[in-house]
Amino acid sequence: MTEKSDSAAAVAVEALTLEQAEAELKRLAAEIAEHDKHYFAEDAPTVSDAEYDALRKRNNEIEARFPELIRGDSPSQRVGVEPTSGFGKITHSIPMLSLDNAFDDDDVRDFVGRVRRFLKYDPLMGALGVTAEPKIDGLSLSLRYEGGKLVSAATRGDGTVGENVTANARTIADIPTELKGKAPDVAEIRGEVYMAHADFQSLNARMAANGGKVFANPRNAAAGSLRQLNPDITASRPLRFFAYAWGEMTSLPADTQMGMVEAMGAWGFAVNPKMQLCESVDELIAVYHGIEEERATLGYDIDGVVYKVDRLDLQERLGYVSRSPRWAIAHKFPAEQAFTILNDIEIQVGRTGALTPVAKLEPVTVGGVVVSNATLHNEDYIKGIGQDGEPLRGGKDLRIGDTVKIQRAGDVIPQVIDVDLDKRPADAEPFEFPTVCPACGSHAVREIHPKTGRQDAVRRCTGGLICPAQATEKLKHFVSRNAFDIEGFGDKQVDAFYTDGLVMAPADIFTLEERDRRALTKLRNREGWGAVSARNLFEAINARREIDLHRFIFALGIRHVGEGNAKLLARYYGSWETFYQAMLKAHDHDSDAWAELNNIDGVGTIVAEAVTEFFAESHNRDQLTALLEQVTPKDAEKIDAGDSPVAGKTIVFTGSLERMTRDEAKAMAERFGAKVSGSVSKKTDLVVAGPGAGSKLTKAQELDVEVISEDDWFELVGG
Ligand code: IVH
Repeated sequence: MTEKSDSAAAVAVEALTLEQAEAELKRLAAEIAEHDKHYFAEDAPTVSDAEYDALRKRNNEIEARFPELIRGDSPSQRVGVEPTSGFGKITHSIPMLSLDNAFDDDDVRDFVGRVRRFLKYDPLMGALGVTAEPKIDGLSLSLRYEGGKLVSAATRGDGTVGENVTANARTIADIPTELKGKAPDVAEIRGEVYMAHADFQSLNARMAANGGKVFANPRNAAAGSLRQLNPDITASRPLRFFAYAWGEMTSLPADTQMGMVEAMGAWGFAVNPKMQLCESVDELIAVYHGIEEERATLGYDIDGVVYKVDRLDLQERLGYVSRSPRWAIAHKFPAEQAFTILNDIEIQVGRTGALTPVAKLEPVTVGGVVVSNATLHNEDYIKGIGQDGEPLRGGKDLRIGDTVKIQRAGDVIPQVIDVDLDKRPADAEPFEFPTVCPACGSHAVREIHPKTGRQDAVRRCTGGLICPAQATEKLKHFVSRNAFDIEGFGDKQVDAFYTDGLVMAPADIFTLEERDRRALTKLRNREGWGAVSARNLFEAINARREIDLHRFIFALGIRHVGEGNAKLLARYYGSWETFYQAMLKAHDHDSDAWAELNNIDGVGTIVAEAVTEFFAESHNRDQLTALLEQVTPKDAEKIDAGDSPVAGKTIVFTGSLERMTRDEAKAMAERFGAKVSGSVSKKTDLVVAGPGAGSKLTKAQELDVEVISEDDWFELVGG
């Protein structure tokens, strides 16, 4: 996970680092959207016009300096219209997921191999059909038809809830308002809204001629055009749509991916003519290269080729992992590259104390975007040593003044991938990576891994909470959108409160109001604050005194625990107390708690180590005690709980299973809200035993745990 940079709000535009700029654009987008909401939706602005204009100006200036960071939701992309928050929300009946990526032929082989193993699909069963089709670089849209008529259209949003853009979708010629022929009662068609190259160019020419802004690329133009509050504007924009997937369907017109796309074509949708059915990995790769060759002449942007298992019954069995289907993958095209000069190397300090080097580059255009910063990952990367100790870039180190090759892939931060030694200045010196933290002066060290004896790739500041960079980054993470999400408490406030000693640790946030009541200098009297804004902040803080367990866990900023792992842990342990006690016990690697933690699908040793280490630190426990006096984490909701008879149960699969593989069984149980464990104990609710079950079955019988067959299992979860 990338770590956030230092306080960005206070930094002049010219001095912003790439990470600061990214954080600033995010903050500005949110802040401006908030003001827009007050202004447009509530007709009650909370800032003066001048303050509002200053925010927009700063946003534009940062975007001018870092065009590669322009966000899809940037205020600059919403030309002359009300904010996107003006759209209603639609909850997708079936979530809109994303795709896993493959970057080379081996990844594609791995994908097909994984699918075959999961399904136990041996060659005797015939060829495994997999489709290949262009990956359109636009934005996905879900269209709902009832009785053959278009009733709603929603953007992907966060995958669960999207924006209602029905009126706009009706203006797109490729989207039928009524389906041709016989369609299911409910048919949700999903696909990509995009803009063709020629249309993009004429739109930009038209906008420039009218003195307006131009869009950076066709994808931004498509997104900006679809998310217009005035459908007349959308109608004037040349948007197109390819159908390639579906959501809820009361009946399926075909039993293969190919057949489904054909049916969508017959209902009146544009479907991609390049889609093909393949029967081997080599065929998939050949189609990929064929499409890659045609890329420049297709007339619209694509960024790879998507492969999908053709048979829908197999797709169903394969299911999903995290937020992507196991039955599909996107094979991305290689990144775009360019040469430029490495002007400087800047060291940033992140939340976990990691010292991250950033390349300051002579600005250069790569794939149509100006790049002036690139990530250098860590110290060894600069020295030209890979993570495995193997030489990187042929072992060539990077020196200030070097001519370097940089690469940009999709939305990823650009990277330095090579250096041209012939152009190295005679006086260029090897880069000396600092051994003290640039933020607090503490020693910065590379830890030795206790088991492997190898040095960690990352050099970290040892200053802990005395390091202002770490402390403030931790606090920024704590209040951030996917953690505590405290409105009005952003990077700027964290920096200011930290500098003044008002908020040094998370618990301080929740005692701020109480302390303010007794303080001589009130928050409302501080510069930039007033009675209303101070009250609003306290209210926003108080609104978070109860918080979802997964947000609470994520907010702690434990290494390797991003949102996904936080959700896994919350869902598995259910309550804070259960989780916390289990983590304390799990510090002993001989304990059942440690084994159980490692047994959770998706939690590996690295995560388990990081979590248990976090709770073993007394200063972390002290901070938690203080925090839990102020805040209550709510018990986690079990997925599919309620209507699933196995929700919340702990299940053990043993013996050989005939209708599903072990991975499949586990994934299936979890989909129904059950926990799967590798060993039978008093806590086991159910054992599913196949032929050849041995000691686990005996143990279940001893402990009087219910034992069922694989067929019973299918019966229980509804076939
Ligand atoms: S299939 C369950 N097919 O790529 C996933 N997606 O990186 C269904 N995309 O969010 C997606 N072209 O917006 C699929 N031919 C294609 C696609 C495609 C573009 C987009 C889509 C998705 C993203 C995932």
